[in-house]
Amino acid sequence: MQTKIDTILVLDFGGQYCHLIGRRIREQEIYSEIVPHDISPKEIETLKVKFNVKGLILSGGPASVYGQNIPKLDPKILKMDIPILGLCYGHQILVQLTEGKVESVSCEEYGIVYVTVDKPVGVLEGLNCKEKVWMGHGDVVCGLPDDFESLAHTDNCPVVAFRHKHMPIYGLQWHPEVIHTENGARMLQNFMFNICKCEANWHMEDLIEKMVQELKTEVGEGRAIIGLSGGIDSSVSTALAARALNEKLTAVYVDHGFMREGETGAIRETFNKFKINFVVVEAQERFMKKLDGMTDPECKRKAIGEEFIRVFEEVAIKSNAQYLIQGTIYPDIIESGFSKNSENIKSHHNVGGLPEKIEFKKILEPLRELYKDEVRKVAKMLDLPNELVNRQPFPGPGLAVRIIGPLTEEKVRIVKRSDKIVREEIEKTDLAEKLWQYFAVVTDTKATGVKGDTRAYGYVVAVRAMESRDAMTASFAKLPYEVLEKISTRITNEIPEVTHVVYDITHKPPATIEWE
Ligand code: XMP
Repeated sequence: MQTKIDTILVLDFGGQYCHLIGRRIREQEIYSEIVPHDISPKEIETLKVKFNVKGLILSGGPASVYGQNIPKLDPKILKMDIPILGLCYGHQILVQLTEGKVESVSCEEYGIVYVTVDKPVGVLEGLNCKEKVWMGHGDVVCGLPDDFESLAHTDNCPVVAFRHKHMPIYGLQWHPEVIHTENGARMLQNFMFNICKCEANWHMEDLIEKMVQELKTEVGEGRAIIGLSGGIDSSVSTALAARALNEKLTAVYVDHGFMREGETGAIRETFNKFKINFVVVEAQERFMKKLDGMTDPECKRKAIGEEFIRVFEEVAIKSNAQYLIQGTIYPDIIESGFSKNSENIKSHHNVGGLPEKIEFKKILEPLRELYKDEVRKVAKMLDLPNELVNRQPFPGPGLAVRIIGPLTEEKVRIVKRSDKIVREEIEKTDLAEKLWQYFAVVTDTKATGVKGDTRAYGYVVAVRAMESRDAMTASFAKLPYEVLEKISTRITNEIPEVTHVVYDITHKPPATIEWE
């Protein structure tokens, strides 16, 4: 990678969207590094040896500035003459540090809010008088020190954007990094290009080269295995690892029994074409045994994560591998609560689901900094086949996280058949390419129905179809009624054990995409 590229540092205060800021910066071809919120001025100076640090963005976070042991910012950073943009909690902490007034409010603002821009300058240059933004906060800024001025307000909050009158310091109460903020990209561009004077001198090719080099260096003379589920993340990791390691790599596909119908055959066909060692492990029975009687979603996820590792360890012994490579991407990490101040939403099987004791020298995750659409870009640049690049994401624990309550052979059969029907009906239309994911969930609820003039008491199956750019936020898709009708008719006709089909109309947040 080119040295001394223009860089924005993102100070991580633990917000779910912290890394999204980094990725929005990269979209503008500017490099970004996520650093801890308590980074010192000296540490920033050290980073300057490697990068051209042009600006700092303080992320949001779940804390209240009035909480105990809250994440803080070193006040000396404000005097470093580096432009600063504080977002949400970052906006409030800037005001608190400079002795402005922050208060907790009873009427919290969550979701889409219209703000009035009073002064379209600095980060708000070129914006409209009313702007649609995404907020989520309980504290508000209600007074600024003399050196600051307010740039925007809402009905509930007098200061939702501000700037310092003499220094390049800005704050926004909302999240410009979230796509629901209509002109969020413009706000970040204003900060990076106009205020920080960055040049767009970072490119995706640099990143691919960096990932391949890192794998080469880490594995050295050793050997590695990679968990290959056939989803885009593990496929791209495999392609990268193959570039770095060639025959020192063994790809392992574990059939845990919770794969979609026809999946194993399709994966075999795709990967037999690759020049790698490819091993299929039939592990249906041991996974079912491990999960027997389990109902708690987190226990299920952790049990699946552990069993995966045990299978990988066995293959590693046979292929003399010391390293395990996984297709973990950034949202898997953040939702598993791995950032210092962030909450654990759910344990993604290849992150929070890992057992404590692992018989590998190291786990390598080349894509851990990337979001799904960035992974798709890498896939295209690596010339992976189109059917792979455009596959809908599939969770590592498979259909097991789409079966609520205890896993039984019957429920596994129902979820597989329902999933196939959902896929077939959606793929008959032109909807598939607009959707992030579409699938079925078998709930643990039974309900009364009438089939062939007799009473039936069967499962309630939920259908879920989501639109998203990066899985951090998602909206339920407004599928046409005719498509929903076909899906529901086919599921209840073709699967005798199902009496009701419901459609999940919840966005993320507050829901997650998968039910467990
Ligand atoms: P949630 O349910 O957290 O899902 O909103 C976000 C995205 O991640 C996928 N997902 C997983 N992927 N291992 C994975 O590789 C997992 O354990 C896992 N859990 C969820 C999910 O399908 C969605 O695309």
